[in-house]
Amino acid sequence: MTSPATSDLDDAALSPSTTGAEWWRSAVIYQIYPRSFADSNGDGLGDLPGITAHLDDLDALGVDAVWLSPFYRSPQKDAGYDVADYCDVDPLFGTLADFDDLLAAAHARGIRLIVDLVPNHSSDQHAWFQAALAAAPGSPERGRYMFRDGRGENGELPPNNWESVFGGPAWTRVTDPDGAPGQWYLHLFDTSQPDFDWSNPEVQGEFRRILRFWLDRGVDGFRVDVAHGLVKEDGLPDYVPPADAGSMGGGETSVPYWGQPEVHEIYRDWNTVLAEYDGDRALCAEAWLPTIEKTALWVRHDEMHQAFNFEYLETEWDAARLRAVISESLRAYPAVGAPSTWVLSNHDVVRHASRLALTAENPQGHGIGPDSPGKPVPELGLRRARAATALMLALPGSAYLYQGEELGLPEAIDIPDAARQDPTWFRTRGERYGRDGCRVPLPWDADAPAFGFSPTGRSWLPQPADWGSFARSAEAADPTSTLALYRTLLAQRRARGLGTGSLEWIDAGDDVIAFRNGNVTVVANLGAVAVAVPSGRVLAASAPLGDGMLPPDTTVWVASD
Ligand code: GLC
Repeated sequence: MTSPATSDLDDAALSPSTTGAEWWRSAVIYQIYPRSFADSNGDGLGDLPGITAHLDDLDALGVDAVWLSPFYRSPQKDAGYDVADYCDVDPLFGTLADFDDLLAAAHARGIRLIVDLVPNHSSDQHAWFQAALAAAPGSPERGRYMFRDGRGENGELPPNNWESVFGGPAWTRVTDPDGAPGQWYLHLFDTSQPDFDWSNPEVQGEFRRILRFWLDRGVDGFRVDVAHGLVKEDGLPDYVPPADAGSMGGGETSVPYWGQPEVHEIYRDWNTVLAEYDGDRALCAEAWLPTIEKTALWVRHDEMHQAFNFEYLETEWDAARLRAVISESLRAYPAVGAPSTWVLSNHDVVRHASRLALTAENPQGHGIGPDSPGKPVPELGLRRARAATALMLALPGSAYLYQGEELGLPEAIDIPDAARQDPTWFRTRGERYGRDGCRVPLPWDADAPAFGFSPTGRSWLPQPADWGSFARSAEAADPTSTLALYRTLLAQRRARGLGTGSLEWIDAGDDVIAFRNGNVTVVANLGAVAVAVPSGRVLAASAPLGDGMLPPDTTVWVASD
């Protein structure tokens, strides 16, 4: 592989895309899933000091910002997305002082930090929900959540037919203090995650307080969990999902719990809260919606700043489809004044080093395990993943990376049943494997216990035995590694301002994606035969180039200067 000269990267840190206003328009944001990143105290679960200790690695990688998945007080029924106290750190992860240290250390390196906000539901251990259980139907305590009487003669049937995203019914009946069966409460996710009632001003006020708590501490913004779900349709009507409905977004126009128009009022309100603070704080929506056009409604000028581009993530390895989704993204988001974002992996989907080589249908959230059909060939998956990332990082806008993808980590497929932890696995009685396979703790050091994840060798999910070859220590020493590729791509992207650039398509044949962004020409070959590499200086290539030709499943960046 041709390596880029390093001399043209020296001024990379001064790029306006990271220091200027509205940094989020072009930032590369690295998602840390704290429980699986680095464990400093040896309990087998990652923690905040573990992250602080590895910030230099992220600096060397060249990311602009970090998004931290939840680290708040939580019984961990859904890996922290079940929050019992929004303004404290769970002892599993450390303390508020550890958080402040992490934030200061990130800022000292010029890395911004956004945190996860989970407003759709709390944990059932949250003080408000415990008070609601102890209070009577119709009380203000119950009014913060979605309690309803059951249907049927004795209220023995749930209030409607909604299903939990994790499988099974979306309602659970409570037992009253006197032991009698009582009302039902709504939980779009696990039983342990009761949905708030967002029409209640007390809930609205509480979340303004929570936003300010973290903004006062200095965070640069929030990734907003289930941002399309907070408002439910009046009267909570039954819903019969069509066959093509995705569990998080629905496949058609109207789902009574996703994408209700009133939800936008909430984000307009939050936008004004963020505007009280200096320094460009940002909101990013996790909103699974059927089209880019609809998702763009979440990032109008007075709402959120970014939304995850799940349409892009869900597009298969197909040139025509990818061209179409890129074109649509670069039309629809700028049309409302927002940047497009790009993302290939996160803690809820099969890692793209496996997903892009699956040969059977695999709906989001189902995961893959030992008995899944269409399991990927690992070499093909990694090859495509490297090509896909090289394509993504050349696109204008902001890009999200998920921890471990810079090592080329595949999905962990052979996790023993007894070790699985995702509520999806339990709620579907093993019918869906769920998301554990993308959450396995990172390998840092090929020769250390737990590959350096934890000083004691403990690991909350077992790591595949062959992950030593993916360890950062091994890849850092290998110029052809996936880590080396990511470093090159990120440095060149920053030095050449690709995030703030614009895209001009080049016609290069059906199976080839080719475009110019500034003085960089990008060609991705998704076909079965090699194509010519454009003339110019090769800045990066996702696989070795043979005789001036670009092999299948390979992306190249060529400079014309
Ligand atoms: C979001 C999170 C996911 C979580 C769910 C419920 O989709 O990304 O991990 O399980 O919300 O909070």
